[in-house]
Amino acid sequence: MPLAGRTALVTGGTRGIGRAIAERLAADGADVTVTGTKPGGTPPPGTAYLACDFLDAAATVVFADDVAAQGFDILVNNAGINKIAPFAEIEPADFAAIQQVNVTAPMMLCRAVIPGMRTRGGGRIVNIASIWGAISKAQRASYSASKFAIDGMTKALAAEVAADGILANCVAPGFIDTEMTRTVLGEQGMADLAAQVPMKRVGKPKEIAALVAWLAGPDNTYISGQSIIIDGGFTNV
Ligand code: NAI
Repeated sequence: MPLAGRTALVTGGTRGIGRAIAERLAADGADVTVTGTKPGGTPPPGTAYLACDFLDAAATVVFADDVAAQGFDILVNNAGINKIAPFAEIEPADFAAIQQVNVTAPMMLCRAVIPGMRTRGGGRIVNIASIWGAISKAQRASYSASKFAIDGMTKALAAEVAADGILANCVAPGFIDTEMTRTVLGEQGMADLAAQVPMKRVGKPKEIAALVAWLAGPDNTYISGQSIIIDGGFTNV
């Protein structure tokens, strides 16, 4: 139980990668709270649930205040949205919404947990980025802008809080089998992509969860400010 006695907040923990992360942190002994967009969401068994729609900037401010008051040893900013579009057809409102959920809300929550982590002598922050925050692709401008941004933000944050024992990193998944991927790509798109991955398959949410748990756990004593790609080898080919 490497995370026994630790409290963890996982945003977007109702499904997909976030749910797998919440399940793994709970299995490792952490006292886990997950967030979802609506009241009455269904978190993994044994975890607590809080609702906040990060598209609502005012609600996010209130939520961040609650998070600051509660305090957490581990923060995983996982909630994220994506909308692909040809560059000339990007709606500024969609672009702004993606930055709000993928960058601004994580920034607010990092800010909220840091004072408590400092007081307790340390903490762990893991922000979920993407391979599209390291390389990019047509029609991904809004999403790539957000994922490059969270990587840059995490690097600066890590430099600022390292002396307080707070380690902050990004995990950058490749193609993972979740609702988001299936919605964006469809079944045929998923199969086509799997064929391009050196390991010839898409990843599983629990594979991302294992890396997050390691970065958030006691064995990580010296990795900070990194973005670790986990993609079956795709980004290098
Ligand atoms: P998903 O769509 O299956 O789940 C997204 C989670 O975010 C849900 O729990 C949802 O409640 C939450 N969420 C969505 N909109 C929200 C909002 N407005 N306010 C608050 N919470 C909101 O997504 P998936 O695939 O599990 O992705 C999780 C993270 O991993 C995201 O940050 C995504 O960008 C990233 N990622 C996913 C990849 C994939 O292949 N699935 C690849 C690379 C990165």
